Amino acid sequence: MRKEINDTFKKVFGEKENCRTFFSPGRVNLIGEHTDYNGGNVFPCALSFGTYGVISLRDDKIVRMYSSNFEDLGVIEFNLDDIKYEKSHDWVNYPKGVIDVMKKHGYDINKGFDVAIYGNIPNGAGLSSSASLELLMAVMMDKLFGLNIDRVDLVKFSQEAENKFVGVNCGIMDQFAIGMGKENNAILLDCNTLKYNYCPVELKNEILVIANTNKRRGLADSKYNERRSECEKALEELKTKLSINSLGELSIEEFENNKDLIDSEIRIKRAKHAVYENQRTLMAKEALEKNDLITFGKLMNESHISLRDDYEVTGIELDTLVELAWNHEATIGARMTGAGFGGCTVALINKDSVEDFIEKVGQGYKEKIGYEASFYIANIGDGTREI
Ligand code: GLA
Repeated sequence: MRKEINDTFKKVFGEKENCRTFFSPGRVNLIGEHTDYNGGNVFPCALSFGTYGVISLRDDKIVRMYSSNFEDLGVIEFNLDDIKYEKSHDWVNYPKGVIDVMKKHGYDINKGFDVAIYGNIPNGAGLSSSASLELLMAVMMDKLFGLNIDRVDLVKFSQEAENKFVGVNCGIMDQFAIGMGKENNAILLDCNTLKYNYCPVELKNEILVIANTNKRRGLADSKYNERRSECEKALEELKTKLSINSLGELSIEEFENNKDLIDSEIRIKRAKHAVYENQRTLMAKEALEKNDLITFGKLMNESHISLRDDYEVTGIELDTLVELAWNHEATIGARMTGAGFGGCTVALINKDSVEDFIEKVGQGYKEKIGYEASFYIANIGDGTREI
């Protein structure tokens, strides 16, 4: 991959001496879904596939960017002194946003550069190709300009770019998992305090399989924002009696004793998911530490049921993939992962049956949904870095 992306750079921008190459992974969340913006815990890991970039400094203030994933758009150019969101700049708005945020935080990014990008994260699959690109840019800027910024700050800048520049109101999970990823480890992150722990994922006879519904995520952003505001409203209602700042602070008991403060059945369901999912995430981390994969798998299944019935972010495609996985004898646990409404599922299965699993689940999905799912083995890799 390193050679390919360097060849692309040469083809597009010509031969340069000061080229540097970087890699930024995608992410998969094992459990703890829609808990990050509710001040709860998440348990994601970085993947071994992701976004590659080659960068070379220029002497002026021009930035030129090219991605072989968006060949048709060609080279997109802008000036460092005039950074603004432009619809026609498409994917370049993500790295632009990161540069803009870093400059606004006072970092001196004062020279232009040429960048060539190639990513092998399936686009729109909910494996965070955008956060991967953001961290790639943030780390490139940090290294090229010798800024020595704390990694967690780069994570925060990337989230800020997505929230304020691109206008997607995501939580911090994706950027954190990608910026802080560690090979063969999942990260338990408390999104309230940003305290985190690495937890080894030492699978011997098991394997993690990601399945992509290949469904276009049409309504994803508006529904995502709707869930956020439902939870915010539920929190306000709970705050009339409880002194809390987020749903993530509640135990299951506290929630059950006070849920009547919430004046809508729908909002009770949304808040219930946030509270129970947060507790499930903590239990899942403990189970993994004890190598109790059976319990871990059960918690994954419960997570899916809650996302389906209480949070209502699954849909026929995700439910079909997960049910087919549950019905396969090799499966220890399976759930949707990411924002939902399409995107991917993740299943923990016995390694020996991986081919049979992919064949049966794939066939069942095609029969019911009418088009194919795609499957990937999830190898857990390191976070964003120079290679
Ligand atoms: C998306 C967002 C994350 C998180 C998940 C749901 O991936 O970017 O911040 O909210 O959805 O868990």
